[in-house]
Amino acid sequence: MRAGQWAAVIEYFPSVRSVHVAAALSSGALFALRGLAMWRGSNLGMSAPVRWASYAIDTVLLAAAVTLAHALHLVPFVDRWLTTKIGLVTLYVVLGSLALKRAPTPAARRLSLGLALLAFLAVYLVARDHGAARWALAAGR
Ligand code: HEM
Repeated sequence: MRAGQWAAVIEYFPSVRSVHVAAALSSGALFALRGLAMWRGSNLGMSAPVRWASYAIDTVLLAAAVTLAHALHLVPFVDRWLTTKIGLVTLYVVLGSLALKRAPTPAARRLSLGLALLAFLAVYLVARDHGAARWALAAGR
């Protein structure tokens, strides 16, 4: 990468990270609301506008994630925390799909919802912990 391009990456990095975090929190909040609708026996969480909103948020979330990983030269299956995070995100997606649609009984859907929310929390904690560790290292602590 040329020096000018690298300067642009550094300049935009904090904004891209803010977009990523805002999209991550919106994604989790929308999923929790869709789960609540499912729990109460409503189909609202699976209606077309809600599904499209969810796709849009998740597309922004992933596009920002890939941009950040690229800017930091992070490589999945090489950088351990990123591998952990991607594994947990995959688990969250599978459990989320079971909770909102695929699990055969209401009880199984509710269990999947609880586990999916735990997986989301684990992704968030891995992201935050990694951040804290990185800044502590940078400060020489
Ligand atoms: C549910 C999904 C996700 C959540 C809740 C989430 C959450 C977060 C949070 C809170 C941060 C800020 C950490 C901090 O600076 O304290 C962050 C940063 C980051 N995330 Fe995610 N993320 C998600 C998905 C992903 C995915 C799939 C990737 C993989 C490509 C990814 C890659 C990154 C990178 C590279 C950073 C920057 C880390 C740094 O500044 O050192 N995220 N994420």
